[in-house]
Amino acid sequence: MMARIAYEHRGALGVPFARSRGLTEGDLETLYAAGAEAVRLLAEERPHPLLMDGGMLMTRWKRFPERAMAEDMAGKLTRAARRFSRGAGDIVSVGIGGSYLGGAAVVQALTHSQSAMAAKARGRAPRVHFLGEQLDPDLIAEKLEALDPDRTAVIVISKSGTTTETAVMFRLMADWLGPARMRERLVAVTDARSGALREAVRRYGLNGCIDADLAPFFNVPDGIGGRFSALTAAGLFAVAAAGIDVEALLVGARCAEEEWCRRPEPAANMALRRAAVRAAFMLNEGAVERLVSNSWHLGGILSWARQLYPESDGKDGRGLSAVEALYSREAHSDGQLVAQGPRNIKEVFYLLERFTRTDLAIPALEGIADGLDKTAAAHSVNQINRAVCEALLYDHITRGVPVDVWRIPERTPFVIGQLLQSEMNAVLIECLILRINGVNQPGVAGYKNAMFGLLGREGSDPALAGRVAALLGSLGLR
Ligand code: PA5
Repeated sequence: MMARIAYEHRGALGVPFARSRGLTEGDLETLYAAGAEAVRLLAEERPHPLLMDGGMLMTRWKRFPERAMAEDMAGKLTRAARRFSRGAGDIVSVGIGGSYLGGAAVVQALTHSQSAMAAKARGRAPRVHFLGEQLDPDLIAEKLEALDPDRTAVIVISKSGTTTETAVMFRLMADWLGPARMRERLVAVTDARSGALREAVRRYGLNGCIDADLAPFFNVPDGIGGRFSALTAAGLFAVAAAGIDVEALLVGARCAEEEWCRRPEPAANMALRRAAVRAAFMLNEGAVERLVSNSWHLGGILSWARQLYPESDGKDGRGLSAVEALYSREAHSDGQLVAQGPRNIKEVFYLLERFTRTDLAIPALEGIADGLDKTAAAHSVNQINRAVCEALLYDHITRGVPVDVWRIPERTPFVIGQLLQSEMNAVLIECLILRINGVNQPGVAGYKNAMFGLLGREGSDPALAGRVAALLGSLGLR
C-alpha cells in the first residue's frame, strides 16, 4: 500500500483561545453540514457565485490531474522539459504569487537541498532558480551576474500576462538572452488565448520546444486561478526540468481527489475537517494561523499555503494572518510569543514523519557537558528532531495554542501531490462554509492601481498618483 497523508485535528480541540473555551466536536459538527454541501458543489463543478471569477467557474483544478493523466501530460511535459533544458546548467523560473509558489514548493520538497551548490547532488538535472517575486534590483542584477546566458533556460509564467513584476522580468530576461537564444531557451506559460505574454509567444516565436500535442496543456487553463495552478504546466514545467516525477505527483493529487476530497462525510474527508477547524477558529476570533514544519524541505509548501489561504479567505473583514515557521528555528525566535503572547494563535503542523537520513548518528564525545552522552532515548539527529516536535506540540497545546496536524509519511511526489490537492480543496470548502468567494482577489488591485498611477501607465487614474504623493509627503516619506 502506498503511503497516504493523514490529518489529525484532536490537538485543536479543547484548547481555550480568544472567545472560545476550547473547540469541541460539537462546534465542528455545526459546520460539517455546510462543509458537506461545499464538497458536493465542488465535486459537481456547478456554477456558484462564490466560485466564480470574472464570470468563470474556477474549480477546474479539481479534475485536472485526472484529465492530464488521461492525455499523458506528464510524459509530454517531461520530454519537452528535457529538450528545453538540454545543455542548460541553470533554469530561471519567473513569476509571482500563484504563478511561482507552487512550482517552487514542489522543487524545494523533492530535490536535494544543496542542488544549487553541488552537481553531484542533483545528477544531470539543472539548478532551478526563481525570480520576479520581488523587484529588488540588487538581487536581480546579482543573480544574472552569476548566471551564463549560454547555459541558462528561462520559464516565464503569468496567467494574465500583464502582472507588472513578471512583465519587467520577462523583458529583462529576453534582453539578457538576446533574440536567438530567447527563441530556443525561453518558454512562456500563460493564458491559452489572450494577454500580453500570449502575444509575445506569437510575435517572437517562443515555445519552439513545445510539441503540438503538448500545446493544449502548456498554459494556465481556463477555470484555474494562479494559486490553484501548481499541478498545471505553470508549476510542473520547472518541476519536470528539475527531474522530478511529474506523473507520480499527478497520481498523488488524483488519489487525494478520489479517495477523500469528494466524500461528504467528515470522517472520510481530511480536507473537510481541516476546513471546519480553520473556519471554527476564525468564527471564534482566532487571528493567526502558523504554518509550521520540522522539515526544511517542506518550507516551500508553507510559503505556498501562506498564499493559498489568505489570498482566498482574507476578505469581507475576515481571514487569518498566516505565519510560516520552521522548527526548531522559530522555537528560538517568536516561539516566545507563541508560548506567552496573545491567545489568538493556532498552528497547523506539517509533520514529516520519515526522513530519508534517519541514521545520522550523534557521535560520542567524552568530557563535554552538553548532556548528549547521557540522553538515553536519542542516538540520532532524527530522534532528537522528533523529540523537538513532540515537545513543541505538548508545550503549545498545553499553553493555549490549538494545533492540527498534517501527518506526512514521507517526502515523495505521490505524497506531495496528495497534500497540494487536499489543501486546495480545504481552502475552498472553508470559504464556502464562511460564504466567502475564495477564487478571486479583488484586494490585490488596490496596490496595482496606485502603482499604475505612480508609473503614469496608460489608462491609470492620475488623481491617484497625487493622493499617494500627498499621503507619503504628510508622513515624511517623500
Ligand atoms: O493566485 C493568484 O491568482 C495570484 O496570486 C496570481 O497568481 C498572481 O497575482 C500572478 O498573476 P499572473 O499569473 O496573472 O501573473
